[in-house]
Amino acid sequence: MRQFKLIINTKSKKYPIIIGKGLHNNLPKLLSKNSISFRKCLIVIDNKIKKKIIRKILNKFKKKNRVVYFFSANEKNKNQKSVDKILNILLKNNFQRNDCLISIGGGITGDVSSFSSSIYKRGMKFVNVPTTLLAQVDSSIGGKTGVNTIHGKNLIGSFYQPNLVLSDTDFLKTLPKREMICGYAEILKHSLILEKKNFTFLNRNASKILKIQSPFIEKSIIQSCKIKKKIVELDEYEKNLRKILNFGHTFAHAYEATLNYSKKLNHGEAVLLGIISAITFSLKIKLLSKVDYLKIKNHFIKYNLPDNINNYFAQKDLKKLILFMKKDKKNTSNLINLILLKKIGKIRLNLNFKDRKIYDFLKKQLMN
Ligand SMILES: NC(=O)c1ccc[n+]([C@@H]2O[C@H](COP(=O)([O-])OP(=O)(O)OC[C@H]3O[C@@H](n4cnc5c(N)ncnc54)[C@H](O)[C@@H]3O)[C@@H](O)[C@H]2O)c1
Ligand SMILES: [Zn+2]
Repeated sequence: MRQFKLIINTKSKKYPIIIGKGLHNNLPKLLSKNSISFRKCLIVIDNKIKKKIIRKILNKFKKKNRVVYFFSANEKNKNQKSVDKILNILLKNNFQRNDCLISIGGGITGDVSSFSSSIYKRGMKFVNVPTTLLAQVDSSIGGKTGVNTIHGKNLIGSFYQPNLVLSDTDFLKTLPKREMICGYAEILKHSLILEKKNFTFLNRNASKILKIQSPFIEKSIIQSCKIKKKIVELDEYEKNLRKILNFGHTFAHAYEATLNYSKKLNHGEAVLLGIISAITFSLKIKLLSKVDYLKIKNHFIKYNLPDNINNYFAQKDLKKLILFMKKDKKNTSNLINLILLKKIGKIRLNLNFKDRKIYDFLKKQLMN
């Protein structure tokens, strides 16, 4: 199977992303091939990865060179306590800056590990081996690291690019279907914000992608990574352009928060609902054409993606929804900042609306 290599070239670091099958068979070899030398490494590994794969991975590392920490990945554990735990393991084992922290897991494991690596002795080597679709197309690229606090999600963190990302599609085989949809939501988002031809590809091949069929799965991951690469290289620190990655997320975050981040609605499902809300609103204010709106809406119907907020919310939730939308990080005034769609592949940034307008919009949606 071919391996694909993309180079991410940001102001702070230049690093490769390798995408392919079977990369886990010999990680030390891939590390040295990509000039990652280290005296020892701490491997932080999601404990949902199958034991057989873990054994295979660990056997390739010399025992004296590696320390292993099994991490239970959930949003509650994505906190400073887990970071402390990792830092203490590094300190106890006298890790140096030139040593390596390797994260093998989804976005949570990656965010916690990369944040720990960014503050350990002011930054040590970091390699990300993303094992969920979401992590392979989104969170492993671009250097956003962080943890949650009782005040909200991802409020403590840093920008810290990895030294290498190894995306092995073999990991996806054990991923629950809902988690595949979660990653797919971000792939779809990437196509809508920047690349019409990717959307056309997805519209033809989504079921093959969701069934992890080669070469469709690899192609969709590569396309998605290329978009994130483009954006991150132009705006590493989210001064402006990078905000387009939040398309659908203003609504999505409010949906998740209103349901108290319950399992009823996971992030990807919230993003899919958020995309529908954003395109419906874009249509309403005559920014998006009916033709493009229907193309997207029909994609949701064709592939049975969640598209109806009525399945999750009722009129009684309206106040809460608006409250969360008003708390969005992008807002700079009393108004609600939205990222909307002009056409498939083209975004409009920095549009602000009175909360009453969004309230009335959601109210109408919840009557349908
Ligand atoms: N840093 C960024 O730029 C960025 C971008 C997007 C999202 N995120 C963050 O990523 C997190 C979500 O990431 P995620 O969706 O990967 O969640 P996750 O890490 O919680 O993984 C989802 C679930 O799948 C399990 N899992 C992981 N790999 C598996 C595998 N190969 N087989 C079976 N099960 C497996 C995990 O244990 C977990 O239960 C959120 O915390 C979000 O804030 C970060
Ligand atoms: Zn997201």
